[in-house]
Amino acid sequence: MNREDFPILNSDIVYLDSGATTLKPKCVIDSVVDYYSNYSANAHRGDYDISLKVDMAYEGVRDKVKDFINAISSEEIVFTSGTTESLNMVIFGYMAKYLNKGDEVLITKSEHASNVLPWMILKEKIGIEVKFIDLDSEYFLTIENVKKAITTKTKVISIAHITNVIGDVRDINSIGTLCKENNILFVVDAAQSIGHCKIDVVKSNIDFLAFSGHKMLGPTGIGVLYGKKDLLDEMDVLKFGGGMNAFFESTWEYELKEAPWKFEAGTQNIAGVIGLGSAIDYLNNVGIENIHKHEIELKEYAISKLEKVPNINLYNKNTNSGIIVFNIDKVFSQDTAVFLNRFNICVRSGNHCAKILKDEIGITNTCRASLYLYNTKEDIDKLVDALVRQDEVYDNII
Ligand code: ALA
Repeated sequence: MNREDFPILNSDIVYLDSGATTLKPKCVIDSVVDYYSNYSANAHRGDYDISLKVDMAYEGVRDKVKDFINAISSEEIVFTSGTTESLNMVIFGYMAKYLNKGDEVLITKSEHASNVLPWMILKEKIGIEVKFIDLDSEYFLTIENVKKAITTKTKVISIAHITNVIGDVRDINSIGTLCKENNILFVVDAAQSIGHCKIDVVKSNIDFLAFSGHKMLGPTGIGVLYGKKDLLDEMDVLKFGGGMNAFFESTWEYELKEAPWKFEAGTQNIAGVIGLGSAIDYLNNVGIENIHKHEIELKEYAISKLEKVPNINLYNKNTNSGIIVFNIDKVFSQDTAVFLNRFNICVRSGNHCAKILKDEIGITNTCRASLYLYNTKEDIDKLVDALVRQDEVYDNII
C-alpha cells in the first residue's frame, strides 16, 4: 500500500521492523523541512508572523491528536518525547501521590520495560504492590483473568493495547468497562497500536494513554500523553522552566499554567509536533481500518508461508496484529537477524525490551518481523526465501 510515498523504499530494502520504528512518508519529511526552512521560530514566545504561524501549527496538531483518539478536549493532550516519557509522567507525576502503601497495580509479564520499570521504582519508593495478571496458554490476556486478578486493593490496571513481542491485541473496551465498574484507573500503552487500529479514549474509558509519533509514521522524539482533564489538573509537574509558568517573583511566589501547558517546559520539539500532525493527516487519508485490514491479510499470508519453512518455531500464529515472532531451531535469534541482513531484510532480534516475558514463554530471545501499510507479499516472499537457506547462516555471519 502507498509504497511510493516512502522515499526509503526506493532502495531494495525489505523493512520488517515497524514495531521498532515506522518509515516516514515524504509528506511528513517535507513538513519538517518546511518548518526548518520557512518558519523555524519558537512557539508561544514571539509576536511576529512566523512565530504566530508556529503557534497556530503547534496548537493545531494538539486538536488533530484530540480528534484522532476522540478525546473530549485538546487540553487533555500533552506533548512529550514519546511513550516512555508519557508513562513516567503518569507514574511519578500522578500515581506517586495517588497511591498508598499496599495499593495494588496490575500489569502483565508481556509489558514493555517502560510499563514495568517505573512501577518497580514506585514499589521501592512507596510500597505499592505490583501484580501480574495471568496470561493464557497463547500469552493472551483474557477478560476472565483480568477479573480474577482484581481485588478490593486494585487501584490501577496498566497494560499495552498491543504487546510488542507477542503482538496480541487486548480488549481495551471490556477492560476499560471493568475498570470503571471497580473504580480502577486505566492506563494504556498504545505504542504498538496507535498507527494500526482505531483508539477511542472515551469509549474505552481510558484514564491515561501514552504513545510515540515515530511508531505512527511521525518523527522520533515526539509523543503524546492523553489524560482525562481532571487527572491532568491533579498530576504533578516533573519538569519546570520557561513556557509552563504563569509568573514567578523574587518573593518566591509562583503560579504554573493550566494543563496541558504546565507539562511542556522549555522549548518543545516543534518540528516533531508538526511532523506528527502531518503523519495524522496521512493516516486519516489512508484510513486506519484499511491499514489494519492490510496488515492482517499480510500476516495471514506470512504465517501460511512461514509454516512451511523447515525448523521454524512460530510463537504467535493467532494474533490479530502485524507482529510475527519466530526462531529457527538451534540458531541464536541475533544470528538469524544478521543473516537476514545479508539479503537487506530488517527484522529485530533479542528480548525486545520485554525482559520478563521469557519467564512465560521460556525463551529469552526471538526474531520479530513487524508489518505495516507499506509491506507487500513480495517482502514476505523474500523473508521466506532467505529463511529456507538457513543452512548458510553460519557461513554468512561474521
Ligand atoms: N519498543 C520498540 C520495539 O518494540 C523499540 O522494538
